[in-house]
Amino acid sequence: MGFFLIIFTSILMFLFLTLSLFILKIFTGKSIRDPNYPPVKGTVFHMFLYFNRLYDYQTEVAKTHSTFRLLVPDHSEVYTADTRNIEHVLKTNFASYSKGAFTQSILSDIFGQGIFLVDGEKWKQQRKLASFEFSTRVLRDVSCSVFRRNAAKLVRVVFGISSSGGVFDMQDLLMRCTLDSIFKVGFGIELHCLEGSSQEGTAFMKAFDESTALTYFRYIDPFWKLKRIFNLGSEASLKKYVKVMDDFVNQVISSKRRLQEEQKDVIDKEDILSRFLLESAKNPEEMNDKYLRDIILSFMFAGKDTSANTLSWFFYMLSKNPLIQEKVVQEVRDVVGNQVGEAKVDEFVENITEETLERMHYLHAALTETLRLYPAVPIAGPRICLGKDFAYRQMKIVAMALLSFFRFKLADETKPVTYRTMFTLHIDGSLPMIAVPRTT
Ligand code: HEM
Repeated sequence: MGFFLIIFTSILMFLFLTLSLFILKIFTGKSIRDPNYPPVKGTVFHMFLYFNRLYDYQTEVAKTHSTFRLLVPDHSEVYTADTRNIEHVLKTNFASYSKGAFTQSILSDIFGQGIFLVDGEKWKQQRKLASFEFSTRVLRDVSCSVFRRNAAKLVRVVFGISSSGGVFDMQDLLMRCTLDSIFKVGFGIELHCLEGSSQEGTAFMKAFDESTALTYFRYIDPFWKLKRIFNLGSEASLKKYVKVMDDFVNQVISSKRRLQEEQKDVIDKEDILSRFLLESAKNPEEMNDKYLRDIILSFMFAGKDTSANTLSWFFYMLSKNPLIQEKVVQEVRDVVGNQVGEAKVDEFVENITEETLERMHYLHAALTETLRLYPAVPIAGPRICLGKDFAYRQMKIVAMALLSFFRFKLADETKPVTYRTMFTLHIDGSLPMIAVPRTT
């Protein structure tokens, strides 16, 4: 009995000491009352308490204090919704801001040395290569035709489901569609995830979603490093998922390298990965396969979740506001024309051009309003997105194709729809919908 009491008391003492140390690390050296710093409006305990609706909590605080701090061990996090500060960070004083060691330690298992995490020369090198790639006419044309093809595939998949009156998860379909698109445009690879024929692709998608969600939890989990060392709980799951992703991406790199070897004379520079591979040939030490893996995962993350999440919320909002849905359809018909029935899908998407996309003002505004209400990246780091035009192009083409052929409704109007707290604004669970084919 005495032995157990000693063990029990020791555990209590250990917990007490750990908690005291933790609290000390949260509050010391933070200039809490200094008016030169943004006011402190909470701690990591609040983030933990409100985790499931963290962005609502932060928005509530921002309504009264547009710039504020939340204290976490060893540093404080500054949040701002003040446009003057945003301009200061993104533009006027950009050089003073970096991603920093804290974010890098949390995210490096997924993004390694990818563009989202690196600072300094490495960032400049990736940003320069990628900016060049994004600004080319070739990328614009290739991406447009890939988006059109995948949008047509998506419409056919929805025709298949709607003919049997079925309910489908809109978010899942959109994720598959944007994953196929970024793989083709970014890495020159046809994944066929939308048709469901790629089992590895589906497993990879799940591994990626779960890894990003588990990684996000590290921000409020003081024990994550300890759990990682002992391979426990969420860290053990994360390790498994990261392995699935690594295996998949390593396969992509080796098949791409093989392809480039075989076609030495006609080196394909149409995709982002090929451009990085060409660079890696000049500097193989630094740009090894691990580095390429980090680049692939970063671009995939940037290109898939953001656009698919925004489109999911967009279709959710259109289902809640059927009049707006019809106004968008009217604009599609005015600009591109009216087609009905599955046989007309290819003809319809062929008529979507750069010029017609430019004329879709109402759709553009509706997507932008969706981004205001449901920001795909709720917490904006210090950098400007590279893929804005790419994202709007894809979102418009997919929205135009789907809305032209179907009227969308929520499968269950009473089911609450909310987000899952992670880097991007995923709809929690699924978005079950019904699509009714348009007949006129
Ligand atoms: C609705 C769609 C999108 C939204 C809301 C969005 C938002 C953002 C935000 C807020 C950042 C800054 C992150 C930070 O500083 O930590 C960012 C960065 C970035 N975005 Fe996007 N993005 C979208 C789509 C895309 C797409 C489709 C691509 C490419 C295919 C892309 C490529 C990038 C890249 C490469 C960066 C990193 C820039 C850097 O670190 O220099 N984005 N995006």
